[in-house]
Amino acid sequence: MTAEISVGDLAEKEAAQELARLSALLARANQDYHRADAPKISDAEYDALKRRNAEIEDRFPTLKRDDSPSEQVGAAPTSGFGKVSHVVRMLSLGNAFNDEDVTEFDGSISKFLGVGAGKLAYTAEPKIDGLSLSLRYENGILLQAATRGDGATGENVTANARTISTIPQTLLGAPEILEVRGEVYMSHADFDALNARQIEAGDKPFANPRNAAAGSLRQLDPTITKSRPLEFFAYAWGDLSAPLAETQSGAIERLGELGFQVNPLTKLCDGPSEMIAHYKTIEAQRATLGYDIDGVVYKVNDLSLQERLGFRSTTPRWAIAHKFPAELAWTRLEAIDIQVGRTGALSPVARLAPVTVGGVVVSNATLHNEDYIAGRGNKGEEIRGGKDIREGDWVQVYRAGDVIPKVADVDLSKRPDDATPYVFPTKCPVCGSDAVREDGDAVRRCTGGLICAAQAVEKLKHFVSRAAFDIEGLGAKQVEAFYEDDQLSVKEPADIFTLQQRDAASLAKLSNRDGWGDASVKKLWRAIDNKREIELHRLIFALGIRHVGEVTAQDLARHFGSWDALQRNVETARPVALAHRAADDAERVERDVAAQAGRKPRLSEVRKAAIERCEVALDADAAWSFLIDADGIGATVALSLSDALANPDESGAITRLIDQLTTIIPPKAQRTDSPVAGKTIVFTGTLERTTRAEAKARAEGLGAKVSGSVSSKTDLLVAGPGAGSKATKAAELGIETLDEDGWLALIADA
Ligand code: IVH
Repeated sequence: MTAEISVGDLAEKEAAQELARLSALLARANQDYHRADAPKISDAEYDALKRRNAEIEDRFPTLKRDDSPSEQVGAAPTSGFGKVSHVVRMLSLGNAFNDEDVTEFDGSISKFLGVGAGKLAYTAEPKIDGLSLSLRYENGILLQAATRGDGATGENVTANARTISTIPQTLLGAPEILEVRGEVYMSHADFDALNARQIEAGDKPFANPRNAAAGSLRQLDPTITKSRPLEFFAYAWGDLSAPLAETQSGAIERLGELGFQVNPLTKLCDGPSEMIAHYKTIEAQRATLGYDIDGVVYKVNDLSLQERLGFRSTTPRWAIAHKFPAELAWTRLEAIDIQVGRTGALSPVARLAPVTVGGVVVSNATLHNEDYIAGRGNKGEEIRGGKDIREGDWVQVYRAGDVIPKVADVDLSKRPDDATPYVFPTKCPVCGSDAVREDGDAVRRCTGGLICAAQAVEKLKHFVSRAAFDIEGLGAKQVEAFYEDDQLSVKEPADIFTLQQRDAASLAKLSNRDGWGDASVKKLWRAIDNKREIELHRLIFALGIRHVGEVTAQDLARHFGSWDALQRNVETARPVALAHRAADDAERVERDVAAQAGRKPRLSEVRKAAIERCEVALDADAAWSFLIDADGIGATVALSLSDALANPDESGAITRLIDQLTTIIPPKAQRTDSPVAGKTIVFTGTLERTTRAEAKARAEGLGAKVSGSVSSKTDLLVAGPGAGSKATKAAELGIETLDEDGWLALIADA
């Protein structure tokens, strides 16, 4: 270690550099200790690094990094635990923020099921602010405990879960296989006592009970977990060999009888008004419960209806979390910084004098976009009574759940006399390219594309993120360093895969860099090679195309089945995409002309004419229809995909990446053993025994694709009374047609 400047003598800039260095050193030490089981520094050296980091943070609180090692109190890195694949995925919940959202939730469920609104019963119970855990019992014996992880794969924390006294080790009278799910949490009293002990021992206290519970459960050493008082509330289940009950409330009662702690505030409610009343009851008791809750969860009571309702990609249709309002605090806005994102968006960030909001220290908050700063909403309307936000202002900050803090309000009485309105940059602060706002877009974007270092680096970070290529040992920090390192020169995803070869040929080896050694470099090469085989949906998501998030990527992967098919289709459909762009332009012109002439704009006429003028060929039209026929894909996604693949820089980078891959794994057909698996089905006319939405969800659950229009690709038409042109077309094409009873009989045993 080089001679260290004492903390008291550090200038701000040096302090920031030092924090970066310490963070890297500590991350490295953690990796050596936990992943490679080969610590390179002593415990005392490790502690000294951590102490120095904490001292610098104390002196310069605003410099505290997002990845600060002091936030990782005793936490072991993820890979220290074995992985567990969940037999039944662990899902999250959709959110409701007000009473209307709750009524709407009931309304949409009732519609899906085809019953009148207000006819369904729901359980309402506190939403515990801890971390979820799945406990697997076989023949009544606790065999495995796993965290949620990404929902599909979690961490094996069995040894730690066994130390929690409210988790039974054995069950009497349980089904042969039973996975109990619930929340691990720490009570306020235990949290206060733990923090007092932390402080006494010279360790950093935990920010809140949730962090304390998470840090305690994810300890590699179960004796530490045992010394931390954790508790468990059961509220759900996963894999089961026999049903627990016919209703949610019955199942919870049964879990209570089996010896689990279930929440005493769980109540059966007869529709939205009772649910909202119980929400108010729980909210009123929030402060005196003795543990943190952040809302109320509603679940459809009838389990057979839960089954009919099923799931969206990450949340059940039959449950929702009604969140408590966000917590608020006032602080000084010290500066407005501009960050440039993956798609070039210029995002203003408020640098705040650190303030505690709901138990967490906040020093940054999003300011959304330039209109938001100026006091205007998305549609140009006034917000905050039109008050703008300036550097030096006294602002109100809030945090809702886990989301990034936001600035809600400004106190004009405290505005400094010399504060001036914020001028939003029109050049990219990173690459200097023009930053422009397209018509109708709230966001100003850098036009530099991949020549903009910020966009390139953000794209790389996205590429290696967890839902994308997820390369072990190659996180955001590493790709950023590799991008900036002229020798390593990782400028685009393909460069990650050529790195080993280039490194072998170069003298400035990666293994000579700070934080890297022979073993870790070898490990990195292996981790990179492992990802030459990648699932199609991860590849699509990893490209970082605007509007193509995780769920859309999965939809696209399922719809096309291969990268080649997707690419070919998008390219063939290009003329239609261009026609839509031309139509957008024509609409814009018409709007201006109409405004000047003082008449109403004829948008749909103009649009239609513009598209007709483009005279696109039939195959382009068919490709476009097939593209937007995919579940969840609309014109916005289709246009964005089209633009990305038509851009030579982007498509070049994609081709170079694909050249480096060995296998693109197609999506698993959801079900292959049902009579409709792999088939394309169209529903038309009135369905009398189910709703359209339910029929669609059911067909998809059985591995079928549901399309809105009949074509030669259609395998089956399900036609209810009143079916019109689709039935005629299907008959012309000789497509098998069933009525609703025939359809229900076909899938009855599936
Ligand atoms: S039910 C399939 N009930 O909230 C739905 N979740 O935001 C399973 N949570 O991941 C969840 N209290 O960790 C449910 N009473 C409760 C809950 C609860 C807390 C957590 C859970 C879930 C998260 C979703």
